[in-house]
Amino acid sequence: MVRSLLANVWDGVNEMIDDTQHENLYGSYEWKHPTQVAGVPWKNPVATASGTFQYAAVRWFYDVSQLGAVTTKGVSPVPWEGNPGIRTAEGPSSNINAVGLQNPGVDHYLEDDLPKLKAINATVIANVAGHCDDDYVEVVSKLNDSPADMLEINVSCPNVSAGGMSVGTDPVALSRLITRLRKLTDKKMIVKLTPNVTDITVPARAAVESGADALSMINTLLGMRINIRTGEPIIDHVTGGVSGPAVLPMGLVAVWKTRSALPNTPIIGIGGIDSGEKALEYLYAGANAVEVGAAALFEPTAPLRVARELDELLDARPELADKLAKGETWR
Ligand SMILES: Cc1cc2nc3c(=O)[nH]c(=O)nc-3n(C[C@H](O)[C@H](O)[C@H](O)COP(=O)(O)O)c2cc1C
Repeated sequence: MVRSLLANVWDGVNEMIDDTQHENLYGSYEWKHPTQVAGVPWKNPVATASGTFQYAAVRWFYDVSQLGAVTTKGVSPVPWEGNPGIRTAEGPSSNINAVGLQNPGVDHYLEDDLPKLKAINATVIANVAGHCDDDYVEVVSKLNDSPADMLEINVSCPNVSAGGMSVGTDPVALSRLITRLRKLTDKKMIVKLTPNVTDITVPARAAVESGADALSMINTLLGMRINIRTGEPIIDHVTGGVSGPAVLPMGLVAVWKTRSALPNTPIIGIGGIDSGEKALEYLYAGANAVEVGAAALFEPTAPLRVARELDELLDARPELADKLAKGETWR
């Protein structure tokens, strides 16, 4: 009696689960629409965004080598502990973080994360962090002899007191840094820009004229929340960086304006992407590829799901797919 009751319940559950509605992200898949960023081939136009992906955790959920690229957490010359206290706060369609670029340092990265990702044949973008120009110089020099496929220079973090956003909002300081880094590496160098400026095309142009091969945008927007029980900021660092679905329009306008100003520069669009449709918006705005960030914090497989959804959407858009495959963009 109990057994037949359970069998009925199980049949009911199986009927409710409509397998056609759930993509099997674990099976093998032949990508139909590759792209290239600054001449580097990607299997598809979707990568993870730095700081929202950790191979040690995510490898249990899916084969990350299926992604267009994997962007790893910012690495600094020595281990950084990040900011103390409460570092994140949830918001409407967004979250705020002030992690402060916590990482185990470039030597650990070269011995651990990077070889593991290359062993499974992932295309790896190594994200570089620094508190001063010499920090960036040290990390880029070490990464130049590594198997990383591309470098992404983070001059846009709002959560560190020196380096980060203070470099990315000052075109003169940015030019000085990128000119120095260009001399140290032949690897394709992406400069990641902040939206916390009046006109993003000013640092964009400064980066490209100093030797950047590509740009990525946007990093997080400066923001804060207040705890109304205490009257004090929720985050101990007071301010943090806003990411998630709410920042999509700001990411799109950054890509759109930069594409108009720099028609030939490869651009990776970032901000608020949690579906193939939203990735497609960035491609129509003029991006060559995209990175998926905060969506992966609560849905680890989000980057791969977005890539699969986009692959299907591109089937019906052969003109766009053809341009991407050649390293060209929609506009
Ligand atoms: C928890 C967290 C950590 C992040 N760490 C980094 C980082 O180390 N380097 C970097 O360039 N960007 C970092 N970012 C910014 C993201 O890569 C991305 O640019 C931003 O979150 C916007 O995209 P999203 O709305 O898809 O999250 C971080 C974002 C979050 C939420």
